[in-house]
Amino acid sequence: MKRLLSGIKPTGELTIGNYIGALKQFNEMQKEYETFVFVADLHALTVYNDPKELKEKIRNLIGIYLAVGLNPEYTTLFIQSENMYHANLGWVFECNTYMGEAARMTQYKEKSKNNESVSVGLFTYPMLMASDILMYDADVVPVGIDQKQHVELARNIAERFNNKYGETFKIPEPVIPKEGAKIYDLQDPTKKMSKSDDNEKGCIKLLEDPKSARKKIMSAVTDSEAVVKYDPENKPGISNLLVIYSSLKDISIEDAEKEFENSGYGDFKKRVADVVEEFLTNLQERFNKIMNDGVVDNLLDKSNEKVRKIAEDKVKEVFEKVGVGR
Ligand code: AMP
Ligand code: TRP
Repeated sequence: MKRLLSGIKPTGELTIGNYIGALKQFNEMQKEYETFVFVADLHALTVYNDPKELKEKIRNLIGIYLAVGLNPEYTTLFIQSENMYHANLGWVFECNTYMGEAARMTQYKEKSKNNESVSVGLFTYPMLMASDILMYDADVVPVGIDQKQHVELARNIAERFNNKYGETFKIPEPVIPKEGAKIYDLQDPTKKMSKSDDNEKGCIKLLEDPKSARKKIMSAVTDSEAVVKYDPENKPGISNLLVIYSSLKDISIEDAEKEFENSGYGDFKKRVADVVEEFLTNLQERFNKIMNDGVVDNLLDKSNEKVRKIAEDKVKEVFEKVGVGR
């Protein structure tokens, strides 16, 4: 069975963008692949986070993974920092990545622009991400479009390492969801909906009050044409709502368009709001049950054993190949 691996940083609060762009994919693919999904908590340290809040977010993210349907029968869920080997392999990769190629990472360039106080970790984090991926010989890595470049860097690192030291790592493929790869801000549909966003009105959080989410959909920015049609360039607001609707209902965008052929925007938004409200209500019910049942720690202890063993074998092999240790 081929392996799938992906992770999410426990910063901010997860949005329906994270669900549609990432979690939904993991969910659909877990039966086809041996799946590893983790909380990328070491990645969260590239910027300061309140330590207490960070811990809470890590636990909540595990709860969300389970609540959206990741099933421990198919998916190994774990917390990155609880497997020390990630940082070990990350270091070896830092030593096998060129400054120039790391400096080409768009996310780094954007975040460091006009900012003297970014951490060195922000610069090297794609190498830690390569370690997360290559450690488990992942075949596929489902990510949103903004992370594709980092997966490509991991491929380059793997190829380079294999050439230098002999076959060691699988070359992973990034998997980008076709529809809804990117969900946009409801108030500014040219901007990505982001969990680190301040614009509360433009962003729907997975754990927010479903009634407030409903209001946000109702007041989403549209256009003056009054035709429900998928046209991201000329109708970004309506197209975004169509993507949200079709993703949550699991239908194609064309089918969603057909449903609203004769609808005005008011009616359309109301239907989108219904679907979002229902989705959040169900998700939160499952989330609360999981968090109250106290199943999380047992589950993590078990999966830790599994991932540590895989990682230990890999890092030993790598250390042997590069020639460190006795
Ligand atoms: P982030 O929230 O940036 O840490 O991303 C976690 C995962 O969710 C990554 O795979 C992202 O590409 C994906 N993601 C985040 N925001 C969105 C969005 N607005 N639309 C689609 N995917 C997203
Ligand atoms: N960098 C990713 C993000 O910010 C999270 C991440 C860390 C990840 N390691 C990974 C995603 C490995 C996929 C595979 O969203």
